[in-house]
Amino acid sequence: MIIKYKLGEKEIELELEGSTFTGAEEVLLLKDENLIENTSWKNIGFDIVDFLSDSDFQLIKLGLKKIIAGFVSEAGGQIDDNFELEHYHLYVNNEIHLKVAKMIQWGWHVNEFPIDFNLINNRISEVVGIKVSTKAKHIELNNFFLRIVRPQNFQDNNPPHRDVWIDRLRDAVNIYAPMCGSDINSSLGLIPGSHLLNESEIERTADGAILNGTSYTVPCVISVKGEQPNLVRPDPKENQVMLFSPYIVHGGGYNFNKNTTRMSLEVRFWKI
Ligand SMILES: [Fe+2]
Repeated sequence: MIIKYKLGEKEIELELEGSTFTGAEEVLLLKDENLIENTSWKNIGFDIVDFLSDSDFQLIKLGLKKIIAGFVSEAGGQIDDNFELEHYHLYVNNEIHLKVAKMIQWGWHVNEFPIDFNLINNRISEVVGIKVSTKAKHIELNNFFLRIVRPQNFQDNNPPHRDVWIDRLRDAVNIYAPMCGSDINSSLGLIPGSHLLNESEIERTADGAILNGTSYTVPCVISVKGEQPNLVRPDPKENQVMLFSPYIVHGGGYNFNKNTTRMSLEVRFWKI
């Protein structure tokens, strides 16, 4: 079956395999820890704020550039002195990219982050008014993630979904922090206010979605209140960060740019 959704000004059409269903009569966020309840954006579900000092931000980019250059080499690619994160797609073919994507799939321990990760824990805590950290009580992981979305490659981003359909991702607050190539043509899409939707208002795939032949770990939202999903693309600039509720419908961050890779830090925080 063909599914459609709106992403910014564009309409996306995808071929879906598998069955769909509508959820139970419940609002998940009302049962769970709501880490954005103290904010002025608790009803819209996301906000964009300044992130770190310029020098810390540059250190992060430099550190990530070294890490990614290392992974590209390890995967069989050739790195030269001109390598920049936004030109990543020029240094990898599909095979090399898929190897790199596997290497980064589970993220890295925060101890390997280019700067002290407590600076980020503190900044996010300050914004939400609750002390939070990447260290969750319920899972072993204490990781940060980098997402790489090549230009014009339709399998590099997740379809629209809620993180919290995966149990261990409940009770959190998420960030999207652009490292390169993020603008209205490539940034993460989301449906404002959708963190408060009743499950019965969302139709979605039963398991991980299979779209245009690619399988994803997350389910895909098919419709919201019986209509096709309509995602906006907030546009955090360099050294800004978007915070959002993991209960919000988000994803579909296709990169429509012609020649710039989009990379973003995507990290989850829980109450300490
Ligand atoms: Fe997600």
